[in-house]
Amino acid sequence: MPVKHNLSVQSTSVNMISVKTEIREHLLAWYDDNQRVLPWRAENGETPNPYYVYLSEVMLQQTTVATGKTYFQKFIKKWPTLKSLAEASLDEILIEWQGLGYYSRARNLHKAVKSLANMETFPKVPKDLNLLPGIGDYTSAAVASIAFDYPIIPVDGNIMRVFARMFTIPFSLPKLKDEVTQMAKFIACKNRSGDFAQALMDLGALICRPKVPQCNVCPLNAICKAYQQQRASEFPISKLKKEKPIRYGIAYILVNDNKILLEKRPEKGLLGGMVGVPTTPWEQVQINKTDSFEPESGIEWQNLPQPVKHTFTHFYLYLSIKIGISKQPPKGLWVAFDKLDAIALPTVMKKIIQKYLILN
Ligand code: ADE
Repeated sequence: MPVKHNLSVQSTSVNMISVKTEIREHLLAWYDDNQRVLPWRAENGETPNPYYVYLSEVMLQQTTVATGKTYFQKFIKKWPTLKSLAEASLDEILIEWQGLGYYSRARNLHKAVKSLANMETFPKVPKDLNLLPGIGDYTSAAVASIAFDYPIIPVDGNIMRVFARMFTIPFSLPKLKDEVTQMAKFIACKNRSGDFAQALMDLGALICRPKVPQCNVCPLNAICKAYQQQRASEFPISKLKKEKPIRYGIAYILVNDNKILLEKRPEKGLLGGMVGVPTTPWEQVQINKTDSFEPESGIEWQNLPQPVKHTFTHFYLYLSIKIGISKQPPKGLWVAFDKLDAIALPTVMKKIIQKYLILN
């Protein structure tokens, strides 16, 4: 049950309802004058394109708006309609997705657009959108509100920060999320629901920023408890962050006649189903016995002095690089160096190959 602080959802007093009205009025008026121009957004008075909204939300799941914009425009140029994207192969989508990371999103996008293209109409409510592969509660709420004005507020880190400050919510995650989700249910309403959700997103990105919030120009500063108490920097209350662990492994660059050996990674796990150079498993300690992971035995491997370092969400990866010239090319995917552009390679794999190319 949410605690009783400034806007307890348990309370239905006139005061609470007037706070809700005030937030909506101030925020929407601010949004009308200050909204960001984003390529998936409908201009004033236009109807949003559900395909644009859905595609942008999938891209923005783990990507910044700045990067998402570039990829969105590239996708829309190549596949202007849902139908055209539904006709694309997974490989074509993966190639355009290169560099965005979290490739399972591209696989789910491929599956989802195929089923969307067979539906009579685009699903309009969160419970139906949730049935699409790769769509969780946040994305279904974002698509339903932005594309169809469904009365729901998607709750992400930005929106949690805005609420945590506005009501000085004394919790860190995961309780903070439960609390904000309940409040968001109370504040959501049918009128301009999509604009309201996007107004909160823009407020979080432009004004109620994590480090230097621009409280003096915030449209909600008259309501914001943290601002009134000069405590914006204290919210949201953060749990002490755990240090990211390091995982170690070896990556093998096996070369033959201007070609490099690549392999498809197992479907399960990080970079599942993606193509890359062979590697050992990535472990929390350096692996001692690695012979069995070498893609060809009897090779004199040359060790590069520095590992390739890459940051994933939950760990850092340090991959030592071994380079070898194949004597008896094993079966596998041999790709000419000048044909690598045609293959969807995860960023960490590009870094590894780049390291080799710089030396040769
Ligand atoms: N972050 C996630 N979805 C977004 C959207 N539609 N607009 C701006 N930022 C977002």
